[in-house]
Amino acid sequence: MQVYMDNNATTMVDPQVVEAMVPFFSEQYGNPNSIHKFGTKSHPAIAKAIDQLYAGINAADADDIIFTSCATESNNWVLQSVWQDLIVNGDKNHIVTTEIEHPSVLSTCHFLEEKGVKVTYLPVNEQGIVEAHTVKSFITDKTALVSVMWANNETGMIFPIKEIGDICKEKGVLFHSDAVQAVGKIPVDVQDVHIDLLSMSAHKFHGPKGIGALYIKDSQELTPLMHGGEQMNGRRSGTLNVPFIVGMGKAVELATTDLEKTMASIAAKRDRLEDALLETLSDTFTVGDRDNRTPNTILISIRGVEGEGMLWDLNNGDIGASTGSACASEDLEANSVMMAIGADNELAHTGIR
Ligand SMILES: Cc1ncc(COP(=O)(O)O)c(C=O)c1O
Repeated sequence: MQVYMDNNATTMVDPQVVEAMVPFFSEQYGNPNSIHKFGTKSHPAIAKAIDQLYAGINAADADDIIFTSCATESNNWVLQSVWQDLIVNGDKNHIVTTEIEHPSVLSTCHFLEEKGVKVTYLPVNEQGIVEAHTVKSFITDKTALVSVMWANNETGMIFPIKEIGDICKEKGVLFHSDAVQAVGKIPVDVQDVHIDLLSMSAHKFHGPKGIGALYIKDSQELTPLMHGGEQMNGRRSGTLNVPFIVGMGKAVELATTDLEKTMASIAAKRDRLEDALLETLSDTFTVGDRDNRTPNTILISIRGVEGEGMLWDLNNGDIGASTGSACASEDLEANSVMMAIGADNELAHTGIR
């Protein structure tokens, strides 16, 4: 039997999602921007997918949700447009983020630092989260953006997004959250939380790879990253990927319907596994309180057992797991999130997600 335990890297596409997508490859394949019926026939399906995404995160009518090719693009778009709009063309020069963001945020911040932008990488506490007061203490009148992930991809730890959103609102600073590991796993409600920009990715909640979205509160202005044929009201050019858009809509609908029930059932299984591992193996611990973790995630360390070596053994036993971010898991570097929470170098090589 094969056991797949790497759903933070990617998930299986739900058969209902595949079924919803198929007609848009072979029957309704027209370009939605064409005048003829082959193209316009797909308009209701695109509108439905947009509605499904609005419902999935409780977006308001005045807000915008724009499809992208992935969350990496959504994150790049936010950071690069804020740089353009508020730093190059404005009087700001500072971005606040955290030490443990996904590489799509961190690498873009490094790129912007080379252009002269000041970036603060906030430290995390021993639970692996940034506390709201820490965010507050680093915001200055030159801060253009605060970008803090909703939940971490390696630990599953959930950040105090509501409190951080309130601080950003009070200070008049744009707030972006990479919610890739939150949407479909825990409730995400953009009317309950003050948030300006939010990144999502379909393949993390049983949708297809290669499609993401950016939520934009009150449809505020944002210089486009992709210029071209003016699709999506000129906000993101490129021929609409109709099958994937339909798939993302269906996937978010499935993932957010009965979410509380699904969360409870997944958390119960996660807890059973975690308890069994902690009881059976000595010198073993897991990162972060369960109560504040996405229900599907365990980052476990067994002192003296190297994570990468363990992965190969698990792989030989047909169990797929990971030592951290899939983008970086082919190198043998220590787990950077574990280092950030204060683990020593040896321990940071033992983490298995
Ligand atoms: C927190 C987080 N942000 C962004 C991404 C990038 O998403 P995508 O694969 O859609 O570019 C990932 C994927 O691992 C992630 O976990």
